[in-house]
Amino acid sequence: LIFPLLDDGSRYVAEQIATTIRSRQANGNYCVLGLATGATPKKIYAHLIAMHRNEGLSFRNVVTFNLDEYFPMRPEHQQSYARFMRDNLFNHIDIDFKNVHMPNGTIDAIHVHDFCQRYEQQIVSWGGIDLQILGIGRTGHIGFNEPGSPSDSETRLVSLDPITRKDAVPGFGCLEAVPTHALTMGIKTIMQAKRIILMAWGVQKAPIVKRTLDCEITEMVPASFLRQHDACSIVLDRLAAMQV
Ligand code: GLP
Repeated sequence: LIFPLLDDGSRYVAEQIATTIRSRQANGNYCVLGLATGATPKKIYAHLIAMHRNEGLSFRNVVTFNLDEYFPMRPEHQQSYARFMRDNLFNHIDIDFKNVHMPNGTIDAIHVHDFCQRYEQQIVSWGGIDLQILGIGRTGHIGFNEPGSPSDSETRLVSLDPITRKDAVPGFGCLEAVPTHALTMGIKTIMQAKRIILMAWGVQKAPIVKRTLDCEITEMVPASFLRQHDACSIVLDRLAAMQV
């Protein structure tokens, strides 16, 4: 789906999320959302907050699982994804914080494996993710599944690609301050979502969008696996779609 501007695309995705929440609500069910961070979903969250304030959209029946977090990372750190989610969404809506799940960047290294397995089990125990939203990194990563991430990967500790670390410098101030590792849902975790929306805005994403759509399906472009999903939409603005 190609929209003229980022704002039009973001409004569309926010409406899809709101419709999913409301239809699950109407049937008395919880709605399980897979959420992303970064610049890409910011406007979507702003639209959802506006819908909460102006249209009474409630998040009481919403359960969330975030895709990823730097590791190690304290939740109060300016660049933590935990903080991003609080600042850009959770603090402004009526979600019950016990329904919010984030990879824990403070966990002791020896407990990481157990934590990741528990994260997978929690997703399953909620009946799986109804709608997963995704941005895309210039390496083709989704979450922090960098090139080389296998299709059967689950939530785990990964090392970050040098391009991804370089892209994070503006937030952290210098390359040395950018974490070398992260916790991320795996490709398999993401592909198990019932519905997926991948978004990309801006000319700098145009080359990786083209590769994702045109390349053979390969772990060297992790986002290309999404083409094997039955219900995955790709939402672009005109600039990101320039080479398609
Ligand atoms: C980050 C995140 C991804 C995100 C991507 C794009 O490193 N781990 O989940 O989708 O890179 O970021 P942005 O939306 O800021 O372009």
